[in-house]
Amino acid sequence: MIVENEQQVTEDALAVMARTCDPRLREILVALVRHLHAFARDVRLTEAEFRQAAAVVAELGQRTTDSHNEVVLMAGSLGLSSLVCLQNHGAGGDAATSHSLLGPFWRMQSPAVANGGSLVRSATPGEALFVTATFVDESGRPVAGAEVDIWHASPAGLYENQDDAQADMNLRGKFITDADGRIWFRTVRMTGYPVPQDGVVGRLLHAQGRHPFRPAHLHVLAAKPGFKVLISQTYDPEDPHLDSDVQFGVTRALIGAFVRHDAPHPTDATAGAPWYSLDHTYVMERGETVLPRPPIR
Ligand SMILES: [Fe+2]
Repeated sequence: MIVENEQQVTEDALAVMARTCDPRLREILVALVRHLHAFARDVRLTEAEFRQAAAVVAELGQRTTDSHNEVVLMAGSLGLSSLVCLQNHGAGGDAATSHSLLGPFWRMQSPAVANGGSLVRSATPGEALFVTATFVDESGRPVAGAEVDIWHASPAGLYENQDDAQADMNLRGKFITDADGRIWFRTVRMTGYPVPQDGVVGRLLHAQGRHPFRPAHLHVLAAKPGFKVLISQTYDPEDPHLDSDVQFGVTRALIGAFVRHDAPHPTDATAGAPWYSLDHTYVMERGETVLPRPPIR
C-alpha cells in the first residue's frame, strides 16, 4: 500500500490489523491501533514527544528486575490496574468485590505457615497485629482447603525484597483455610509506604505534584480449584492516604477493621500493648483458577 495522506495511514494500519488470525488478538490489535492513532491526533503528538514516549516505554522495561517491576508500578499509577481488576470481577464492575490489584510485590514461593503461626522471620519492631481471615463463596459458605498467600510491608514501609534489614520472606506466608474457611496468624501492624520513585513513575508523580504513598494494607492471594484466584488488599482506615492511594486501589469493600486493644492480649503474653486485631471476610467468586505470573521472583 502507498500511503497517500495522514488519514489513510490509519485506515491502512487498521486493515492490516484486521487480518490477524486469532479473533481475540485481532479485536485487541484493531482497537489498540484505533485508539493509539486517535490519541496521537487528539494531543497533536510531536515527533520529539513521540521519541520521548518511546524512551519512557524502553526505560520501564530497563528498570524492571527480579525484585522490582516498574511496568506494573506505572500501570497502577495510571489507574489501569484497578480498572482492569474492577471490570473483571464483581459482576463486571456493578457489584462490590473482594478483588483488588496484585501490585508489584507478590512472590510465588512463600513459605508455609500453620494457622496460629507468625509471619515475622527476623526482628521487626512494631505493634503486634493478629489477623483472622475468612474465605467464603458468593453464598456465604466457607471455602475450606484454599491456599492463601499473605504478604505486606514492614512498619518501616518496605517489603523484605526491598530491605536488607529483613530476612528473606519476612512478613510473607502461605496458609491453608480450615473447615470454616479461616486462616489466622500474628504479624506486625504495617504502615503505608511510598512507591519507589527513582524511575519513570517517580518522575510522573513529581511532574503532577502527587504524593507517592499507598495506604497501609495487607495483601491476600487465595486459590482453590473452581474459584477465580482471589487477589485482594485490606486497607487500614486510619491511614492518612486512604482516599488518595497513588495506585487507585481503595474501594469500600476493601477497607478493614483494624481494632486497637490496650488491655493485654488474652492468650499471647508477648504481644505487648497496644496490640491490634483484624477480622476480615473475603468473597471468592466461582470461575477459572489461573494463578497470575509473579511480577518479581
Ligand atoms: Fe503493597
